Amino acid sequence: MLATPLKAIAPKLPTGILYGGDYNPEQWPEAIWMEDVRLMREAGVNFVSLAIFSWAKLEPRPGEFDFGWLDRVIDLLWKNGVSINLATATASPPAWLSRTNPESLPVDENGTRLSIGSRQHYCPNSRAYRAGSARLCKKLGGRYAHHPAVALWHLNNEIGCHSHTCYCETCASEFRVWLKNKYNTLETLNESWGTSFWSQAYGEWEEVQPPRKMMTFRNPGQVLDYTRFMNDSLRGILVGEIEALREVAPDAKVTTNGLGFWRKTNYFSWYKHVDIAAWDSYPDPANGPGDVRTAAFGHDLFRSLRSGQPFILMEQVTSQVNWRSVNTLKAPGQMRALSYQAMARGSDGIMFFQWRASEAGAEKFHGAMVPHYGPTGRIFREVCELGGELKKLACVSGSRIPARIAFVVSWENCWAIEIESKPTQFDYAAIVADFYNPLWELNIAVDVVGPDAALDDYVIVIAPALYQISQEQSGRLKQFVEKGGALIMSYFSGVSDERDHVGLGGYPATLKDVFGLVVEEWQPLRPNETNSLEVHGCSKQVSCTKFCELLELRGARALATYTQSFFAGRPAITTNQYGRGEALYIATQPSPELLRKLYSDLFAQRNLHAPACADIGVELMVRQGETEEFLFVVNHNSSKSKIDYANWKGVDILNGQPISGTESLAGFAVRIVQRSLESVG
Ligand code: GAL
Repeated sequence: MLATPLKAIAPKLPTGILYGGDYNPEQWPEAIWMEDVRLMREAGVNFVSLAIFSWAKLEPRPGEFDFGWLDRVIDLLWKNGVSINLATATASPPAWLSRTNPESLPVDENGTRLSIGSRQHYCPNSRAYRAGSARLCKKLGGRYAHHPAVALWHLNNEIGCHSHTCYCETCASEFRVWLKNKYNTLETLNESWGTSFWSQAYGEWEEVQPPRKMMTFRNPGQVLDYTRFMNDSLRGILVGEIEALREVAPDAKVTTNGLGFWRKTNYFSWYKHVDIAAWDSYPDPANGPGDVRTAAFGHDLFRSLRSGQPFILMEQVTSQVNWRSVNTLKAPGQMRALSYQAMARGSDGIMFFQWRASEAGAEKFHGAMVPHYGPTGRIFREVCELGGELKKLACVSGSRIPARIAFVVSWENCWAIEIESKPTQFDYAAIVADFYNPLWELNIAVDVVGPDAALDDYVIVIAPALYQISQEQSGRLKQFVEKGGALIMSYFSGVSDERDHVGLGGYPATLKDVFGLVVEEWQPLRPNETNSLEVHGCSKQVSCTKFCELLELRGARALATYTQSFFAGRPAITTNQYGRGEALYIATQPSPELLRKLYSDLFAQRNLHAPACADIGVELMVRQGETEEFLFVVNHNSSKSKIDYANWKGVDILNGQPISGTESLAGFAVRIVQRSLESVG
């Protein structure tokens, strides 16, 4: 497997694993900077993200720039062995921008213009914001791109986090331009949006509006297109910054920090534009394994966004955040375990928000590498210990995760399925988690791909609740099964096309032959309502929740049937041979145990196995380099857990200990077991 260290992508990056965090020197007197760099050296920091929220300091008045302080801090960091992820500083526009251009502030769906005093207070289509950002990008690029310390550029910050939808007049007119490009004529728009329903037909382009506050249900086509338009507008910010920067610094390497499976931003299209993927992960320690799995999913997604190339965990917290209603502390060892979880799934950078906890402002109670207490307590000690260990792990950088299973998620589908007036209010991210979590428990590597991804490298595809599917996407899935692949799809899949028009004649309209069945009716269940399933060949009944479909089999074979109400005796989980492959349909939400069993049976048939065996809560992942591979063992349980290394024999690179056989691993403990690929044959 070809290794791709981040340094091969952005040559000015330090060798090995990146370690550091958001550094906000603009909040501190220069005397503190001296202490900062001393502590950074002590902690093993080799990389910081700089100037993310510095626009007002860099350009205090329109067109008047002050780079003196940034010159000094960049030189200081470089002298102390710290490389820089330099921000374009556009995440929080200065007060003067909205004073001189009030229309740059976003407008909510009720028509209320939002105020300054927080951050991300811009309309994504504001010309003043875009022009101001481009000017700043060029100034920064021209001044710093050639500095040896500036290894990477951090575009904006979490674009779309707060400012994801604006309903102002600029957006309305840009939306019409976007629609004209897409539909060409109003007739096509009317047809696509189904405006013959409720007398919604448009006769003039000027009549078309953003889906602002309305009397009742909004037109789904209009809502879907507006979400797509907003996604494109936000992506336009990213692309605009790259273009401005590369005008003055053509070789600049760029990244931007994503937000996991963030509903409003289709990262499959975004991350094509950047050189390195990065994201911010904030699992809630109060949720135990729940959020650990969400973090795992995010890591798999961000690794897959750039075809398996290592990514950067750009933000996490050392201790506790400040933005939940109750902000639980990470237990001793938990920050380390979560850091290694990211690395286990392909991250070559372990970064934090933030370096030093603020004295003032809305995030003063957010954890940091140097907390309010100072550098003598537990937090900084753990930070230094981790930094020391990461220095030994350069050999891991660039290694990759071989995955034979594709887990399909789709933002387009998320937008469509979550529009109101469906059989029930679907929470797509929750359904995705229902189908992903058993994979996490089974410790099987998966790539998280979009519905348009090439599937040739995979033997199994899992696509839960793919409500919206185009002809091409169905065609690709069909071909995958025909050629011998195994496809698993769940309830409420293949129902509508990309216009949100339903495929008639029973669902899933375009895949009925692949699954050998047709969905006739469905029953959404209330939160505490269940049905139950009899699994063929097994005497125990198991519960199912959320959604139950009534299937008519046309060639498929039932693997499980419902046992309650008038659903009793009707098939709920089926399999169908199609071409040289197999298509499994899951018409309800089975219990996690049953789903795990279904998955593991299928994986065993396809010769896919976890690298070792362990108690649930222990994460096992293998990264492969060119000559060696690394088994990551991360115990997320706070108590001891059992591991059986099966045929793995190697050395723990964290402490040099030889590893084989079985052991009981302490709570939150981690091992990275290295073996040469030659020894495996
Ligand atoms: C991120 C953001 C940071 C900081 C952090 C707090 O969403 O990028 O600037 O606000 O959250 O957890």
